Amino acid sequence: MTPLNQHPAGRPLVILVTGANKGLGRETVRQLVAAGHRVFLAARDEQRGRVAAGETGAQPIVLDVTSDSSVDAAAQLIAHDVGHLDVLINNAGSTGDLTRETADVDGSDMLAVYDTNVFGTVRVIHAFLPLLSMAAAPTIVNVSSGMGSLTWATDPTKVEASWPSVVYASSKTAINMITVQYAKVLPNIRVLAVDPGLTATDGTGGMGKPIEEGVVAIVRAALDPAAAPTGSYTNADGPIPW
Ligand SMILES: NC(=O)c1ccc[n+]([C@@H]2O[C@H](COP(=O)([O-])OP(=O)(O)OC[C@H]3O[C@@H](n4cnc5c(N)ncnc54)[C@H](OP(=O)(O)O)[C@@H]3O)[C@@H](O)[C@H]2O)c1
Repeated sequence: MTPLNQHPAGRPLVILVTGANKGLGRETVRQLVAAGHRVFLAARDEQRGRVAAGETGAQPIVLDVTSDSSVDAAAQLIAHDVGHLDVLINNAGSTGDLTRETADVDGSDMLAVYDTNVFGTVRVIHAFLPLLSMAAAPTIVNVSSGMGSLTWATDPTKVEASWPSVVYASSKTAINMITVQYAKVLPNIRVLAVDPGLTATDGTGGMGKPIEEGVVAIVRAALDPAAAPTGSYTNADGPIPW
């Protein structure tokens, strides 16, 4: 049996990273291009995507995960251009308003963040499944967070338990369950969730470890099936609890 992600011809993998004009997404793209793969850098803003693609050596593609037509157009472009996709990295994410008091959170706060983090993930997976199914050993990496772990959220020794986060944390818990469910029904696709760990990006207001370290779990999950098998939830140190 061919190991996942090791194409018999030994050719570079075709990889799509969403939300990649900055932050963890852009650094993931940079490292994957440096590793010799053909990477589509997806961004909702064409100009910012083009700049980031120029900086990283990737191919830019416009993709807003909240728009069916945008996601479908991106899938059609890659279908026409390449005809398959080896690795889909669902990285685009939004924290929502982190200053919002828990009691003030309402349905529209949830809808906005879920539209990107949760519905966006399913929207992109749905649109790209036909292209993934054309690959020899396809992989879906869902960029979750340790904030999505119910085990850590209820463990007072963990920092994840100390941040109130009805909106963002629950959206990442939903991504975890989405990962488990797709992994169960798609035996030919490796589907997994990763936690980058607190990393200094715009999303955290610059708080956390250097961005090169934040992408370790993402890049490893994309390229190393043994380190991140289907249905797994890992960070840079290995498996973490759901
Ligand atoms: N940094 C951390 O500590 C940390 C920890 C755990 C998990 N994560 C996760 O890692 C991922 C990347 O986060 P980050 O820290 O790199 O944050 P970031 O710097 O804020 O980057 C987020 C990216 O997502 C894009 N995005 C947002 N909405 C989008 C949409 N509708 N369509 C397409 N792209 C969209 C943003 O594009 P624009 O520039 O156009 O807004 C940006 O490129 C997220 O899923 C986040 O939840 C981060």
